[in-house]
Amino acid sequence: MDPTMALEQATRDALERAAKAIAGARRVVALTGAGISFESGVPTFRGPGGLWRQFRPEELANLQAFNRNPALVWEWYSWRRQRIAESRPNAGHECLARLERRLPAFTLVTQNVDGLHRQAGSARIVELHGNIWRSVCARRCGVVLDESPWETRRDPECRWPEPGALPRCTCGSLLRPDVVWFGESLDTDVLGCAIDEAGAADVILVVGTSGLVYPAAALPDLARRNGAATIEINVEPTPLSESVDIVLRGPSELVLPALEARL
Ligand code: OAD
Repeated sequence: MDPTMALEQATRDALERAAKAIAGARRVVALTGAGISFESGVPTFRGPGGLWRQFRPEELANLQAFNRNPALVWEWYSWRRQRIAESRPNAGHECLARLERRLPAFTLVTQNVDGLHRQAGSARIVELHGNIWRSVCARRCGVVLDESPWETRRDPECRWPEPGALPRCTCGSLLRPDVVWFGESLDTDVLGCAIDEAGAADVILVVGTSGLVYPAAALPDLARRNGAATIEINVEPTPLSESVDIVLRGPSELVLPALEARL
């Protein structure tokens, strides 16, 4: 068999095995990362054109940076919100939303803050790293402001903080984006929910993540140790590739629909 045909055959076999595992599962969890939103035009963090290749996280995504220069941090998050507002969910997001409706128990655990899974129609979502469309009181007085991306589309300028007019909480403190910054812990309830879901899963689909950021990167192994079949969908090998049961190499916007078609 020529090498291309052998590779195609191997991919088909892997797709068949993955589909069989999903079809026979009672509980399925998908863990997603920035790769699933790449085709929608949302930059990843570490790949070519990745955000951490262009920007210094320590100047933009941590509390000290925000305390030092909140206008700069808001400017960066406003720019990211703008990019996301201009993007749409892709076939990968849509496919996961359909799987939730189709399978008996399906939970989406995402590291993404872009809200595209919800926009695609997923409902049972655990957002490990927060959501870029929400703002919270920087002093954590309890105020949370949930702003819909659709409003942004109508008036893209509305979330640009004017100099001297940074968004403020009703308590007088500054508002900050409701995302997890470097050096911060994940919300314990949110993480607990993700751990419970991964621990109870029969199948975990790991989609478009470099598997470098913990605790999210530990969830596939947790699921595997509790008996789940582990399936990775990624365009490149990752540190998780060695230990998963099935690797589906390719873009999630193509691989997920191909998998769904076999269910
Ligand atoms: P990364 O940017 O680290 O990794 C993106 C992954 O997606 C890489 O493994 C790519 O190979 C893969 N990829 C790219 N395009 C793809 C496609 N079309 N289909 C499938 N895979 C594709 O993003 P994350 O792993 O999500 O944290 O990063 C984890 C966390 O690091 C983020 O949530 C963020 C960042 O610091 C916080 O902000 C707290």
